[in-house]
Amino acid sequence: MCGIVGVLGDHEVAPLLVEALKRLEYRGYDSAGIATVNNGRLDRRRAVGKLVNLSDLLVHEPLAGKAGIGHTRWATHGAATVVNAHPHKAGPVAVVHNGIIENFRELREELAAAGYAQESQTDTETVALLVHQAMEGGATPATAARQTLKRLHGAFALCFLFDGEDDLLIAARKGSPLAIGHGDGEMFVGSDAIALASMTDRITYLEEGDWAVITRKGAEIFDEHDRRANRAETRIQIDATRIEKAGYKHFMAKEIAEQPVVLADGLRHYSRSGTLHLPAGVDFTGVDRIVLVACGTASYACHVAKYWFESLAGLPCDIDIASEFRYREPPLSPKQWAVFVSQSGETADTLAALRYAKEKVARVVSVVNVPTSSIARESDLTLPIMAGVEVGVASTKAFTSQLMVLALMALKAGVDRGRLDAAALAGHLAALHALPGLMNHALGQSGEIAKLAEELARAQDILFLGRGLMYPMALEGALKLKEISYIHAEGYASGELKHGPIALIDAQVPVIVLAPRDALFDKTVSNMQEVMARHGKVLLISDAAGVAEAGPGTWATLTMPAVDPIFAPILYAIPAQLLAYHTAIAKGTDVDQPRNLAKSVTVE
Ligand code: AGP
Repeated sequence: MCGIVGVLGDHEVAPLLVEALKRLEYRGYDSAGIATVNNGRLDRRRAVGKLVNLSDLLVHEPLAGKAGIGHTRWATHGAATVVNAHPHKAGPVAVVHNGIIENFRELREELAAAGYAQESQTDTETVALLVHQAMEGGATPATAARQTLKRLHGAFALCFLFDGEDDLLIAARKGSPLAIGHGDGEMFVGSDAIALASMTDRITYLEEGDWAVITRKGAEIFDEHDRRANRAETRIQIDATRIEKAGYKHFMAKEIAEQPVVLADGLRHYSRSGTLHLPAGVDFTGVDRIVLVACGTASYACHVAKYWFESLAGLPCDIDIASEFRYREPPLSPKQWAVFVSQSGETADTLAALRYAKEKVARVVSVVNVPTSSIARESDLTLPIMAGVEVGVASTKAFTSQLMVLALMALKAGVDRGRLDAAALAGHLAALHALPGLMNHALGQSGEIAKLAEELARAQDILFLGRGLMYPMALEGALKLKEISYIHAEGYASGELKHGPIALIDAQVPVIVLAPRDALFDKTVSNMQEVMARHGKVLLISDAAGVAEAGPGTWATLTMPAVDPIFAPILYAIPAQLLAYHTAIAKGTDVDQPRNLAKSVTVE
């Protein structure tokens, strides 16, 4: 999950490369670097840590040239050091890479035996050495690159730059996304359209196995069999790639606050006047089963949706995390659907799971935030969640928008399977359309949550508990907290606590209980009292009725507005997100770019 960029410009490219890398930092930020060709000479600058360190370096050691490549790294092979930072260079060639070359060790040994020693620990330097070796054998840059690509196993998006060639980039894509941008007398390469949006809105997406020879005149694209390939040039909506904080301290704060509007817009797009307006292909007639597959937060959206598909539609629903799904070799039927949920649409685990399921099921459906992403393009049917660009690594508005789309799909399944009549559908839709207003109310608790977070920030371990629809929310709340505050947090089904985890409880362990006053409330309160009997510090998040009944004796309470229990997860995501956000602030961590993480995990 790194970000790569290339520019054949008619001006100095270093500032353009850095601007594009800023837009790619969400893909990783362990190190960054650029290389340019200036007066025929290839040179590079690299720096460890955030992109700002590279910018500082370029102030003191500028890099001229009108052709260049750049990279922002999420370390896979080798620690975050300058030696391991991209671009990697070997002889006359420099390369930037997103992905994992799975056979790089044997290639590295073969190269070493031939006298091409590697200085870094990375798989990417091996690629540069292979091209270098081929060029020393007399191959042209394009031939050397093509020969090298055929030796690589695994996933890669690559962009090559060559000494003495200030009007040549060679790009290749297999398993990791890559786009070509068209300018006026300029050409660009980027991991996605967002990276290129400050330079062009004319984009061509490379397909799996494609490679391209790019000059300022344009791109010659070849498929994996080296046949000329025509790939469509599209125009992206520039405003869809606008990424600014709009006055908020962090992107995450902005994206949490945007949720009522984003949800309302999405609901209006897919449902109006008590009826559904989903794409025609969303017809569950004859579908006898569904499996929902995703990673991380998106997998928790699937976990919530499982309750909806089964209770609203009576449709058997399996869920699985993508990295396990295909290795489990689940029996799939030609009468079932496989649904893949992914904010980025580029998550390698989810894309691999999709490819496993394709041809085995009746329909592959994706629920994504990027309709031009790989997962979307390889699906039979895509439902965009329309959350807008989500920059914060911790997913917030995308999560509630995924829930919104999955809820509407479950309602449609209920209608198609004769479980919901028009009145019942209208009632559920009314409950969904009431959520944006309730979310605004929940957002109003941010100040109170910030106070609680001061104490949570001192904890070493935090537990989240929930039952029924709130169990996946306990998992999501724990993930949100741990990934940005670095505090160990775990989510449990409330009923599970007494089967072992209760051993963790003492006065130092805050236990956050997500429990609207629903049919399971009393049982959750019993579990909560088991915690309090062992001096556990309980924060109860409920509605007014629930807080009045079970609040006394707890460490603290947060009161949510009353909500239709079936859609409570969409509302209760707000306090979970705010608890994580404010705790991270109290801890002083990097909220938008937490350590070790990246926004889009495009490696398995
Ligand atoms: C969510 O806060 C995390 N950043 C992470 O779990 C994320 O949800 C996961 O990597 C899946 O990403 P995707 O939705 O882009 O596929």
